[in-house]
Amino acid sequence: MRHTVQCRNASEAAQMLRAGQLVAFPTETVYGLGADAKNCHAVAGIFESKQRPSFDPLIVHVASVAHAASLVTQFPEAAQLLAERFWPGPLTLVLPKTNDIPDLVTSGLPGVGIRIPAHPLALEILTAAGCPVAAPSANPFSGISPTTAQHVLDGLDGRIDGILDGGPCGVGVESTVVSLMDAHPTLLRPGGLPVEDIESVIGPLQRPAPVSADEQPQPAPGMLTRHYAPKTPLVLVAATAELPDFPEKRCGLLTWGSMDLADTGRFDYVEQLSSSGDLRTCAAGFFGALRRLDSTAPDMIIARRFPETGLGVALNDRLLRASAK
Ligand code: TXA
Ligand code: MG
Repeated sequence: MRHTVQCRNASEAAQMLRAGQLVAFPTETVYGLGADAKNCHAVAGIFESKQRPSFDPLIVHVASVAHAASLVTQFPEAAQLLAERFWPGPLTLVLPKTNDIPDLVTSGLPGVGIRIPAHPLALEILTAAGCPVAAPSANPFSGISPTTAQHVLDGLDGRIDGILDGGPCGVGVESTVVSLMDAHPTLLRPGGLPVEDIESVIGPLQRPAPVSADEQPQPAPGMLTRHYAPKTPLVLVAATAELPDFPEKRCGLLTWGSMDLADTGRFDYVEQLSSSGDLRTCAAGFFGALRRLDSTAPDMIIARRFPETGLGVALNDRLLRASAK
């Protein structure tokens, strides 16, 4: 067991990172569990504390485009355009790495995922630390991502060295991951930056061919396997009108938009993300609502799909993986 310290400010968190310790910190998407990306011992600690398989690569966080460009062998025009437009922000670019980035960070892949997070505390930490910071979401592997400091402690207290509390995350889902490893930009993970926004700058993105969950290594690790998952079985429905009836079961409902109360009355617990169906509000509340539903320990959670547009694409992706067996 480690003792998990509450950091008083960004400079204390940065100092701990520089000393090779594991520190959770807020970003605009979800809380990250950081380690100095050039310190293999510290990076190995991330895999250990999250019980994350080593074939799942980590995203590297920096505070400036110049620092990002120094970690890769090519920074193509598409990267420049996207960085200019969307960094700091919920976008991760996969680019060919230099030898400065240990293979452990990228799980042996030739590309490294990099982003500049749009959270003042994260930027303060990264600037003060000076080193690139590898940080996956700060939750035990395959569990629900943390959007508050308490969520982080619920899963990792005693397994990490420190945490800086910056309140709830504004975006609520992880960054969109785009590979620029070859001439055809490819979407590896839908996320907090809508794909439409990216395509408006660099044109259509390729979608990777689906791979089976047990095929390793995967081009976009963690894409199809069970992930973001509550302990409770989760069932997806297209509309509340389609809600299945399970009379003998205690059911929780995760929904959005207007609800027919006669429909929702048979649920033991209801989380409504946004009554107007605003997808930003839905995303910001999504993982927290899933956690609360899970903690009421129902027999199952019924979740309503989002429209397949904008942030809805990332939310449906998380629901689909949360529902995977
Ligand atoms: O918003 C986010 O991206 C958050 C915050 C903390 O920045 N981080 C995050 O990290 O979601 P994580 O570890 O939970 O998800 C990382 C995923 C990997 O599972 C993989 O799909 C993709 O990003 N990824 C990272 N590095 C990659 C690489 N070198 N090649 C391909 N995919 C990569
Ligand atoms: Mg994660």
